[in-house]
Amino acid sequence: MKVIAIDGPAGSGKSTVARRLAERLGMDYLDTGAMYRAVTFAALRRGIDPADAEPVARLAKAVDLEVTPGEVRVDGVDATIEIRGPEVSRAVSLVAANPEVRTELVRRQREWAASRGGGVVEGRDIGSVVFPDAQLKVYLTARPEVRAERRAAEVTGLDYETVAADLARRDALDQGRETAPLRVPEGAVELDTSDMTVEEIVDEIVRRLGDG
Ligand code: DC
Repeated sequence: MKVIAIDGPAGSGKSTVARRLAERLGMDYLDTGAMYRAVTFAALRRGIDPADAEPVARLAKAVDLEVTPGEVRVDGVDATIEIRGPEVSRAVSLVAANPEVRTELVRRQREWAASRGGGVVEGRDIGSVVFPDAQLKVYLTARPEVRAERRAAEVTGLDYETVAADLARRDALDQGRETAPLRVPEGAVELDTSDMTVEEIVDEIVRRLGDG
C-alpha cells in the first residue's frame, strides 16, 4: 500500500498541495479534515451538542459519509458548502478532540486506503497516527500571517482579524488536545510554504518521493 501523508496546521497549503500532488501522481485523495467537519455538521443538524462526547461518538459510528474531492455527502445530504461555514468551523475542534470519534474516523481512513491500495491523505495526525509507515510524510507550515491571509481569501464575509483570531484559537486547540495532537511526525519532510508556489511545493514533494 502506497500512502503519502500530508499534515500541517490550517492555511499551510495542505489541501491545495495534496490535491495537486494526487492529480500529478494519478492517485486518489482524501481530505480527513472534511470527515471531522462532516461529523460536526451531522451533530449540529440533529441538535446534538458537539461537546456531548457520547452521543457524538455514537453518531460518528452510525453516520453515512461520502467524502470525495468534489463533494461531501452526510447521510445522503449534500454538505459540501456547509462543512466550511462558520458554525461547523467553530465547533469542529470539539468533535476532533473526542477520542472515540477519532478511533472511528481513523478506522474509516485506513479502510479507504486499503480498499484502493493507498492514496494522498491529508490531515493533522496522518503521518503520526493513521499511517506511521507511509511511503512519504510531509509536514507543511507557513508563517501565521500568511496562513491567516490564505484562509481569509478562502472564506467570504469575514475580515482578516476575525480569521486570524479563529485560526490561532483552532491551532491552540489542535496542538493542545490530549488525543493525537497536531505535531511533526517522526521522519517527516518539513516544508515552510510561506514563499513557495503550489507548483514548487509539489515539485519538491515529487523529488523527495524519488529519493525514497
Ligand atoms: O483541515 P481542516 O481545517 O478542514 O480540519 C478541520 C478540523 O479537524 C481541524 O480543527 C483539525 C481537525 N482535524 C484533525 O483533528 N485530524 C485530522 N486528521 C484532520 C483534521
